[in-house]
Amino acid sequence: MKWKDVDYTPYTSTNPLDSGEESLRQEDFIQKTSVVVRELSEKLGRVPTACVVTFGCQMNARDSEKLCGILSRVGYMLTEEEEADLVVYNTCTVRDNANQRVYGRLGHLNAMKKVLPSKKIALCGCMVQEVSVIEKIRKSYSFVDLIFGTHNIYKFPELLYMMLTSDKMIVDVWKDTNAIVEDLPVERKYPFKSGVNIMFGCDKFCTYCIVPYVRGRERSRDPREILREVESLAADGVSEVMLLGQNVDSYGKGLSDGISFPGLLREVEKVDGIRRIRFMTSHPRDLSDELIGLMAGSKKICPHLHLPVQSGSSRILKAMNRGYTRESYMELVGRLRATMPELALTTDIIVGFPGETMEDIEETISLVKEVEYDNAFTFIYSPRTGTPAADMPRSMNDEEIKEGFDKLLKAVQETAKKRVARYAGRCEEALIESLNDHDEAMVTGRLGNNLLVHLKGGSELIGSYVNVKLLENKGFYYIGEML
Ligand code: 5AD
Ligand code: SF4
Repeated sequence: MKWKDVDYTPYTSTNPLDSGEESLRQEDFIQKTSVVVRELSEKLGRVPTACVVTFGCQMNARDSEKLCGILSRVGYMLTEEEEADLVVYNTCTVRDNANQRVYGRLGHLNAMKKVLPSKKIALCGCMVQEVSVIEKIRKSYSFVDLIFGTHNIYKFPELLYMMLTSDKMIVDVWKDTNAIVEDLPVERKYPFKSGVNIMFGCDKFCTYCIVPYVRGRERSRDPREILREVESLAADGVSEVMLLGQNVDSYGKGLSDGISFPGLLREVEKVDGIRRIRFMTSHPRDLSDELIGLMAGSKKICPHLHLPVQSGSSRILKAMNRGYTRESYMELVGRLRATMPELALTTDIIVGFPGETMEDIEETISLVKEVEYDNAFTFIYSPRTGTPAADMPRSMNDEEIKEGFDKLLKAVQETAKKRVARYAGRCEEALIESLNDHDEAMVTGRLGNNLLVHLKGGSELIGSYVNVKLLENKGFYYIGEML
């Protein structure tokens, strides 16, 4: 189903029923677009460049790799500079400040386009799933050349072709889809690790969250396709996979195979060459004892769980429609800690939800101290149009919210530092991911528990596993030395 029939696109899309047929169609557009890009290259006297900028979560990061894969195939040279001939913003809308950042940066792109009129600008991702955003862009940012949503990203080759052969703004945004199209080219950011989508969308409808509206209903990917992808990644040198979904614990719902998330994990574990398995994100309501048992006994599944709590007050959790209480969450944490004492726990927390008081925030702070998270991402509540919470009355003013937020942040930092301190002096295996941002004589590695460690070393180490002694606790990371 399309969001609406867009009269300002010269083209009408159909929702494909057959994934194989659709990927062949898009392959055809890759060939056609390559010809157009070659012509552009001749005109410019150089290879045209493209830059994909990712906002938001891991799902978006993975989508960007797909966009990059297609751009490479049609002949663009990828760059990180926004002076490029084509810039794609893959947007997020989970909080309003993500939207505001995009609007601000679009202004800069417009200034660049005035100097280089052949420059093309595309917008995709969660933000453009909102009708009001499309209207605003049409009205105030009419220099944008292409807008497409989260459901038809696999049509990028076709949309690129439309954009490059038309001088109109092309808009193709669908409200929802049941399609999952496989087999599009991907350009991975890291050769040794990769995200793997296992499901799309979300059916949980937390009252603050826009994700179910912009990513659509929950759809699980066929396990055979997932395994095929993991096997081919392993054959290509990938040793760490991160299974991605808004709510991975309900994987399999709606599939005829009767497969569950633990069942899928067991299959992924069997793939030779895969040494580390991660997943994101779990929901406290659906996390099963079967999963806990599997994680505890597995050598490949990393001892890290991101388990968003959002609030430590049962009253607020109810208003958020989270489906658990403070007590049931604590009981789950108790079971996790009893089964896996070494498990690293991280979380997300929102402050300033409608109806929340300083007492509720105090409850959240006491939960943080009780759980002792290894890390927590804290956010100030941002009303999202169309969600139930957006119509709920505010209870605290901005100043009070900021005060509560700062108090919470202090508690998070203190407990995390304490928790992370227990690794001091230990020897752990790290996967070296990159050169250090600040010091080229150092590299940055990641431990199984997701902790980062910086150590002396060169680029030849990237992608390899090394044993590291953890020397200096810097709060959320360590300085270490290779053994
Ligand atoms: N306001 C603030 N934070 C939000 N999150 C989701 N929706 C909102 C919102 N409206 C946070 C939640 C979620 C994380 C990805 O973003 O904590 O877990
Ligand atoms: Fe942002 Fe949510 Fe979309 Fe991820 S799924 S990009 S967090 S709105």
